[in-house]
Order: sequence, then structure tokens, then C-alpha cells
Amino acid sequence: MTNGDTNLLTTIQQVGDTALGDLESAADASALEAWRIAYLGRRDGRLTALLRAVATVPQEERREAGAAANALKARLETQLAAREGALKAAELERTAREERLDVTLPGRRPPLGRLHPITQTVREICGVFASMGFQVVEGPEVEWDRYNFEMLNIPKGHPARDMWDTLWVDQLDERGERPMLMRTHTSPMQARVMEQTKPPVRVVVPGKCYRYEATDATHEWHFYQVEGLAVDRGITFANLKGTLYEFARGIFGPERRVRFRCDYFPFVEPGVEMAIDCFACDGTGRRVETEDACRICRGSGWIEIMGAGMVHPRVLEMVGYDPAECTGFAFGLGAERIAMLKHGIQDIRLFYANDLRFLQQF
Ligand code: FA5
Repeated sequence: MTNGDTNLLTTIQQVGDTALGDLESAADASALEAWRIAYLGRRDGRLTALLRAVATVPQEERREAGAAANALKARLETQLAAREGALKAAELERTAREERLDVTLPGRRPPLGRLHPITQTVREICGVFASMGFQVVEGPEVEWDRYNFEMLNIPKGHPARDMWDTLWVDQLDERGERPMLMRTHTSPMQARVMEQTKPPVRVVVPGKCYRYEATDATHEWHFYQVEGLAVDRGITFANLKGTLYEFARGIFGPERRVRFRCDYFPFVEPGVEMAIDCFACDGTGRRVETEDACRICRGSGWIEIMGAGMVHPRVLEMVGYDPAECTGFAFGLGAERIAMLKHGIQDIRLFYANDLRFLQQF
């Protein structure tokens, strides 16, 4: 054995010792990878360099040096695999200990959505009318002036237009007029339904309405109405009263009394407003404990809930019906007002303030 070969064998021995020492102190996957590159890396690994050096020693001694280098390579590879396995097992053991899942803990209930109180009220109202044979239909919120006003006997320039503060769509027609608006009530659906159908008609129309008005405890600038329309041969005011009595009892209970008083809407004749006796003071107008004026009905004993009346003959004519042949009644109520009465809510603005503490009560 030559001197150079003795040196190479010694070097192999030394590299082996250092490699195994370094491997022992590699504490994670990235340190292991760095170790692998340093010793077994194909380009610059220390063991790879030793294997290359084997080719330079004299032939008769090459075999011993080559065998030693290859044996070390195999040993280092085996030790690397063993160290990898040990680190993985330790990591698994650590996560099992530190991130243990206690399957016996009760789960967290995900928050559940629910229907908005006004959606619930609108459905309840429609349900009562559906049980009396009314069909539920819907119509557009962006409406033509023609349906919102003209077909309802409210021509341009008619002073009754002031009853509905209107949000107009900012678009002019060829005459320089604004033909489109956000519907101010659901009554335009009266004309739309009658245009499309022959009598008998019996529909309710729930939907959103918009008005350009300042908000307060009982007024929103957008709110829901439910419109009702019944047209047939021989429909009378008694049918209107009977239907609305039934509605009031269905929504507010069998004890409620109902009052009709004259009111004016250009599309009905005669027109009425309907009120129910105040449930808070039982129609007395006085609070039981204090004898003060009742705050819900402001001392009157009655709460107005809707406008109604017999469909005006002009409206019937405009949709092509013959007023000598058929008559009808119509009504329009505000869903928020009904919900306020049912649940004793003092301010309409609560419905659309998106306050979960309020909404979760329903
Ligand atoms: C009308 O809108 C008529 N179209 C109702 C009608 C239909 C009469 C068919 C005759 C025949 P009025 O503007 O009064 O009428 O509104 C009807 C209901 O909508 C009111 O009783 C009220 O409950 C509700 N309402 C009106 N304005 C507002 C508002 N700003 N905020 C909340 N609710 C409102």
C-alpha cells in the first residue's frame, strides 16, 4: 500500500466520522438536506470528491480504497434514511401531543340566517289572502309614468300626483319628458294585471315601493306594500269589507274591530282608509296603568293600516273592461306598518338598519 493510498483511506475514515457527527446534530428536514448536499451531493459532495479521488491512486491499491469509499457511501445513505425516519417520527409525536383534537368537546354551532321580518310579514299577509282565493303576482320596481299614474286616472299635471313624492329615473324621452320612475306604490300592477287578463281577477301584489320623502319613525323612503285587486260581475263594497275583515282577523286575531272612513285616491270611487282598533289600549285610547293617551294610536283608539276602495270606472275603461259589466275593489297596505303593529315596534327605520340584535328577535 502506498503513502497516497494510506492518506486516502485515512481521509475516507475522517470524512465518515465528521459526516456521522454532523448528521447526528441535524435537527430538521432543511438541515438534513444541507447535510446531504454537503456529503452526498453529485457535484460538490465531499464523498463524491473522495470517489473521484479513488481513480487517481495506483491500480493495485484502487480496489481497497474504492471498496472503503463505496462502503462509506452506502453507510451514509442508510444513516441519512434512518435519521429522516427518526425526525419524522419525532415530529409526528410532537403534533400528536401538542395539536391533539378533543373529539369529545361540543361543536360550535354555525350562525344560521333567517328570513327578514318584513319578508315574514309579507308572506303571512299573502298567505291570508291566498286562503281566500287570491293569486300572488309581482311586477317591476322601475315603472312607466303611464302605469304608476296615467292608467290610474292621474294624468300629467293632476294635483293628486303630489300625494306621491316621486323618484324619477334620469332619462328623457323624445318629448323631453321623464317617462320612468321608481314605483311609488304597487297600484300600477292593477292596470298591468287587468290589461293581461279578462275578468274575473283576484290578485295580491307584494313588492317594494320608493318615495322621495324624509324618513321618520313611521316613514321610510323605500318600503313594502301589498296591493289587492278583485274584479268580477257584481262585486260590491260589502265584498271589500268582508275580505278586509277576514284579513284583519287573520293577521291580528279574532278580537280586532275594523273601521272604514272616507278617503280620496283618484283610482277608486268611493275611496276609504281602513283602521283596526288599537291592540295596545283595546280601542280606548288610554293606557291602562296611567290613563295617559295611548302612544301607539295617539289616543284615537284606531290605527290606520291601508287605503282601499271600489275600482274607478275610468280605470276599468282604460284597460278595456266595461264598467257596466263588471265592478271591483282594490286595496294597498304597508307591510312595515303591519309588522310594527304586530310586534310593537316603535320605529320603522329599525327594519333596514342591519342591526343583528334587532333582526335576531324575529
Ligand atoms: C297608496 O299608496 C295607494 N296606492 C293605496 C291604495 C291602493 C288605495 C288601492 C286605494 C286602492 P298610501 O300612499 O296611503 O296609498 O299608502 C298605502 C300604505 O302604504 C299606507 O297606509 C302605509 O301603510 C304605507 N306607506 C305609505 N307611505 C309609506 C312610507 N313612506 N313608509 C312606510 N310605509 C308607507
